[in-house]
Amino acid sequence: MDRHDLVRWLKVTGTAQGRRSARSAWRRRRADAVGLPRRGAERARVPGPALGAEPQPGGGVVRFARSSLRVRVAVGGAVFCGWDGAEPEPSYALAGPCPEADARAVLEPDTDGGWRVVSERLLVAVSRHGAVEVRTPGGLVLRRDLPPRWWEPVSGDSGGRAEGARGAETETGAGGADERGAPERGAGEGGASSVGARWVQRSEVAADARFFGLGGRASGPRLRDGSYRLWNTDPGGAVEPGDDPLYITMPVQLVVADAGTHLVFHDNPWDGRVRLREGEEGAGSGHDRPGTCELRMDGGPLRYWVVAGTPARVLHGWTALTGSPALPPRWALGHHHARWGFGSADEVRRVVAGYRERGLPLSAVHLDIDHFRDHRVFTVDTDRFPDLPGLAAELRADGVRLVSIIDPGVKAEPGEAVYDSGSAVGAFVRDARGREVRGVVWPGEAVFPDFTDPRVRKWWGELYAERLAQGFSGVWHDMNEPVSFAAFGEPTLPRSARHVLEGRGGDHREAHNVYALTMARAGYEGLRELRPQERPFLFSRSGWAGMQRYGGSWSGDLTTGWPGLRASLSLVMGLGLCGVPYSGPDTGGFTGSPSPELYLRWFQLASWFPLFRTHSAIWAGRREPWEFGPEVLEHAAGALRERERLMPYFETLARLAQLTGAPYVRPLWWSAPRDRALRDCEDAFLLGDALLVAPVLRRGGTRRAVRLPRGRWYDTTTGTAYEGPGQVLLDAPLSRIPVLARAGAVFPVTGPDGGVELEVWAPAPGRTGSGLVMAGGGDGWERPTLERFNSRLTDGRVVVERQGADEVGYPVRVRGAAGSP
Ligand code: NOJ
Repeated sequence: MDRHDLVRWLKVTGTAQGRRSARSAWRRRRADAVGLPRRGAERARVPGPALGAEPQPGGGVVRFARSSLRVRVAVGGAVFCGWDGAEPEPSYALAGPCPEADARAVLEPDTDGGWRVVSERLLVAVSRHGAVEVRTPGGLVLRRDLPPRWWEPVSGDSGGRAEGARGAETETGAGGADERGAPERGAGEGGASSVGARWVQRSEVAADARFFGLGGRASGPRLRDGSYRLWNTDPGGAVEPGDDPLYITMPVQLVVADAGTHLVFHDNPWDGRVRLREGEEGAGSGHDRPGTCELRMDGGPLRYWVVAGTPARVLHGWTALTGSPALPPRWALGHHHARWGFGSADEVRRVVAGYRERGLPLSAVHLDIDHFRDHRVFTVDTDRFPDLPGLAAELRADGVRLVSIIDPGVKAEPGEAVYDSGSAVGAFVRDARGREVRGVVWPGEAVFPDFTDPRVRKWWGELYAERLAQGFSGVWHDMNEPVSFAAFGEPTLPRSARHVLEGRGGDHREAHNVYALTMARAGYEGLRELRPQERPFLFSRSGWAGMQRYGGSWSGDLTTGWPGLRASLSLVMGLGLCGVPYSGPDTGGFTGSPSPELYLRWFQLASWFPLFRTHSAIWAGRREPWEFGPEVLEHAAGALRERERLMPYFETLARLAQLTGAPYVRPLWWSAPRDRALRDCEDAFLLGDALLVAPVLRRGGTRRAVRLPRGRWYDTTTGTAYEGPGQVLLDAPLSRIPVLARAGAVFPVTGPDGGVELEVWAPAPGRTGSGLVMAGGGDGWERPTLERFNSRLTDGRVVVERQGADEVGYPVRVRGAAGSP
């Protein structure tokens, strides 16, 4: 937190809270001064020359003079590489037991004195000095990881300063060793445990490659040259695109190049940095400069997974490894309205009535911390919300659900039920001397459950019974980076704080980035247990690789302004490419008051995102659609109606995301990763296979250029057909943003009678089309059948057929001219 943040917090929360956060910051500093291992002299280690190799199922182990590398191809095609004896498990990211080894993949000597593992989808070549090349079956290089380098304490050195104070060690800052193995200072032991050692690995990718992912980044989705930190962080209430890191960081990179697409995941939750540099092509001179990626970690194992194939295959492989995205209940695909500071049950009623009176669809209202008693989690301020279950029932009768915020920080006060029950099971994070770690959050002095302890997850999950009894239908996890306000230093727990880590034991350096992931697990499992007949609805501000198993996310406190609007697209798309398909921004921005135009453009964009929610800070202006004048209201109502009409399509996309890992919101290059112009296009997206959405991202824009992938695309408003690839200029009046439909697309929408009908866009002459439908499953666990449809032109007429059936089974509405444009 910088000075500005502190000033803001003091204004908002009063000086008593300010003094507490100053004390807490001192406590944190002191705890780390005594509780962290000191870092003294270190020496570097590189693998050294290869000595031999042993085949094992799915690959084998290559032994080097000072390390070893395990390569293992898993069934399904993902490749695991682990240095220094690192195994795939234990892992917070993996969904279940590590997938079996693919027995067909074998380790064999390579021609240059190294070894290689040949599998169905990839070839992994390990050089004599420990460089690892991942190639396509056709021999194209996807990535080349140079031999890593570790820095380890020189044994016997008593050290001088606590970790984090850098500068005196022998590091040169040069990054990974080069292919021949850079000379190391002092020899480490072969296969030495490196969990506490810092390490660096540099990799090269094709000169034309583009980087995506790394969790939720505001400056993407294409990640340009720069340094990206891996440490979940609340930047303090007003996010700008330049802010990095944010709430969700993940060592997950998606690399897209002409040679192919691949995802690399370093399974290590420690703090680290990724330095990216795109390559440069030498215009046929043969002097390409490769793209580079340098990963520096403060500790933890050096192990990683590579998944390659088309983008769809990569996301499928990734979610097969780390878990299927949780399926939100149907109602969670409608419009949500939130606000920090609703003030009272009556204000909630007034807002809901405002939607109803204007005929605006509304699915859910979210209650923020102001409905708690003194901001204490799992309580209700009964003065302002005297009968929450009654309010919930009343709203439910109108088709509106209540969603509750849940913060992990528990008011540290004996006599407070949650604190007492947590203390009784030893739930709270302790310091190196065994005392409860005290931080500061909204309720004042707070303690923090250790969600890396299975017993604590169980205790916490049971607390959600109180929320269900109050009538809530879903939960919104906040402040779980975790945040502890600090007048200086990092606004989180001390790095020396102890965690159970599933019984292995460790400190916050290892647990920090998985704190929210394990909290999500506790909440999700609690809800499943408590209300087994309904799918839990949970979304979380922070998280890590695998968080999709428990729910989605939202974009956090985006600053109100056009840059914030653009950042919301970057965050939603970037998270989707990391396997988290359900997210969306605070529509209108978290801070201040958007102009009517900005509000409307944000609303129009967010209405195409999986989570479509208006929200703002307690000190910010209103976000109801009628607060911005009649013109905005009319157009926002249009966006809401279109969202309602498309609900069956959103349901289908949610189901497909669960089945295949494909995000609802996809970059334009999704089906054409070799199209370089699409790879660089960041201002539009595909919604599933059928639609292309081109939001207005700048002030005053009423016309915009839209880049089209190959094939015919129809403007869904005018019906005009355009041929891709290429760029077209389309009108974007205030009333709407351009949305195009792919020729031949078949997708489900709500028909005039409220039932599902198929919308079909005429295939181009000589072409066919298709679409999938999986709608109508409700909020429980029943799964509707997946139906496949084909479309074609016969004698100028559009014909739709359902695969494996004689009847289409739905009314069909054909759109788009069937002839030439
Ligand atoms: C921070 C969250 O990001 C925001 O959405 C919420 O309104 C505040 N905390 C208050 O709970």
